[in-house]
Amino acid sequence: MKHIVILISGRGSNMEAIVQACAAGGWPARIAAVISNRPDAAGLAFAQAHGVPTAVVDHKAFGKGDAARVAFDAELQRVIDGFSPDLVVLAGFMRILTPGFTAHYAGRMLNIHPSLLPAFPGLHTHQRAIEAGCRVAGATVHFVTAELDHGPIVAQAVVPVLDGDDEAALAARVLRLEHRMYPSAVRWFVEGRLAVEGARVRHAGGEPQMFS
Ligand code: GAR
Repeated sequence: MKHIVILISGRGSNMEAIVQACAAGGWPARIAAVISNRPDAAGLAFAQAHGVPTAVVDHKAFGKGDAARVAFDAELQRVIDGFSPDLVVLAGFMRILTPGFTAHYAGRMLNIHPSLLPAFPGLHTHQRAIEAGCRVAGATVHFVTAELDHGPIVAQAVVPVLDGDDEAALAARVLRLEHRMYPSAVRWFVEGRLAVEGARVRHAGGEPQMFS
């Protein structure tokens, strides 16, 4: 039985989708913990209501600057490793991670990013896609590396950008697919179907890795 630790910063709707998919059965895994860097993250209540242990490592308690970032990541790593994770899942976890932290979880940490990477790393992805005149937008599940919003791609979800879309409308359209894609990707990992080979992911299953 593999142990999954999910990190959130806010709403936690992707975390909810993963907790529910895992609870529905058939996974060789359990959700060992949900951890937030914000004490007021709305997703913590969902996790507690579903019997998932929660923890908070409040980044604000560590102050600002490079030393604070290293100290925060060290404490976060200590708390995560207390749950003996096979996989760490970043689900709306809005922190830039230090190289030491990403190296510690190399090959066993996934992120979901709301753009079709390598386009639009960083913030405000949907607004930037609309302003660039993109006709498609989406989200990407990838393994986490030291470089922000890079790393071997596991799956992508694609939606149209419609005339008249604003950021909220496009984000909602993408999020619906995130909730299908991320549980699938996490399940593939815990079933041992994903292998990182250099910059790419080899996938042992037959399912499409493109969601639309
Ligand atoms: C999701 O859209 C996710 O792709 C995005 O934040 C949202 C979190 O929603 N992640 C990032 O922007 C990471 N850089 P959720 O808390 O409801 O899952």
